[in-house]
Amino acid sequence: MDLVIVGFGVVGQGVAEVIQQKREFLHDAFRKKTRIVGVFDSSSYETNKTGLDPSALIKRKASKNKVGKRRYDGDAWRILGALEYDTLIEVTPTNIVSGEPGFTNIATALKSGKNVITSNKGPLALRFRELSDAARKNNVQLRFEATVGGAMPIINLSRELLRGEKILSIRGILNGTCNFILDRMMEEGLPFAQALREAQDMGIAEKDPSYDIDGDDSACKVAILANAIFGLDKKYSDVKKTGIRGVTEDAISLAEEEKKVIRLIGEISPKRLEVAPRLVRIGHPLSIGGTRNIVQIHTDLAGEITVAGKGAGKYETASAILSDLVALLNENKKSRVIRR
Ligand SMILES: NC(=O)c1ccc[n+]([C@@H]2O[C@H](COP(=O)([O-])OP(=O)(O)OC[C@H]3O[C@@H](n4cnc5c(N)ncnc54)[C@H](OP(=O)(O)O)[C@@H]3O)[C@@H](O)[C@H]2O)c1
Repeated sequence: MDLVIVGFGVVGQGVAEVIQQKREFLHDAFRKKTRIVGVFDSSSYETNKTGLDPSALIKRKASKNKVGKRRYDGDAWRILGALEYDTLIEVTPTNIVSGEPGFTNIATALKSGKNVITSNKGPLALRFRELSDAARKNNVQLRFEATVGGAMPIINLSRELLRGEKILSIRGILNGTCNFILDRMMEEGLPFAQALREAQDMGIAEKDPSYDIDGDDSACKVAILANAIFGLDKKYSDVKKTGIRGVTEDAISLAEEEKKVIRLIGEISPKRLEVAPRLVRIGHPLSIGGTRNIVQIHTDLAGEITVAGKGAGKYETASAILSDLVALLNENKKSRVIRR
């Protein structure tokens, strides 16, 4: 399978490394070479029909801050149309205002009959229906396990393994930064501002933390799950959200007196899309501390299924992208067997 990676930051480089590391496994399991035939960052690109060397790409990016020798203006979609490949891996920054550049990159690939795997929340939290319709119309797949919960397998689990079940609702912790801050406030009795500063010093929170602490990141994930699992047509702005800025030390100690913690919980059901700080009993799975993500899927037959995992990181996110790639290769292998 020939891949083009657009975006060569933390996740793009993680994917390149993992493809190199798993090359033999992929070949043995699917009897097909998996190659990177194109790669783009914001100002440069490189293509090669016979495959690019992932280590050389990572080395060049580290030494020159450019992944390719060829310069361009960041409109990868203009070049994508002329390339021969099977699957686009779209891992440019999330933009929740316009969805770009991800939206146009993904739409261009789908319309030209290519599969897409992405970790980019913006296009899916803004224009999910348009993209999934384009995939269906062109008989290709749009896969996005990495957009929610990093390494925590929630989308493919719900859509594929639990396909026969009726999923009634999903609730969980979808943002590790908020969880870390709330946990530190309780553990150490820290005020919000100090716990936030600690998270920033440790690289867990961004310099401008508003996207995380105001609940936008969780709201994007709630919208994506609502669309992907409940078949809704929602944008992240349809999600009712309250962030964690207003959580006080007093609220945390009152909760503690009742043997509870405060957690930022995303709730998804056909009737309810909401992100808000909630009281959770200590010992309940959703009272988990640290930066991990966790969700509970409530189904008609299995009851409650709980999944937890690292919500972000280079290899964790690459692991979710690999799971989508393996699903595509598997599909490809099945259709080759049927055609024979
Ligand atoms: N990091 C995580 O743990 C994680 C987890 C889940 C999901 N995600 C999502 O995955 C995506 C990538 O995250 P990241 O952490 O890898 O971000 P990142 O480190 O900031 O890398 C973004 C990459 O995209 C490139 N880029 C920016 N504008 C572009 C354009 N117009 N055309 C082509 N490339 C462009 C950047 O180019 P330059 O290198 O030239 O600046 C950079 O290589 C984001 O949407 C993020 O929300 C990340």
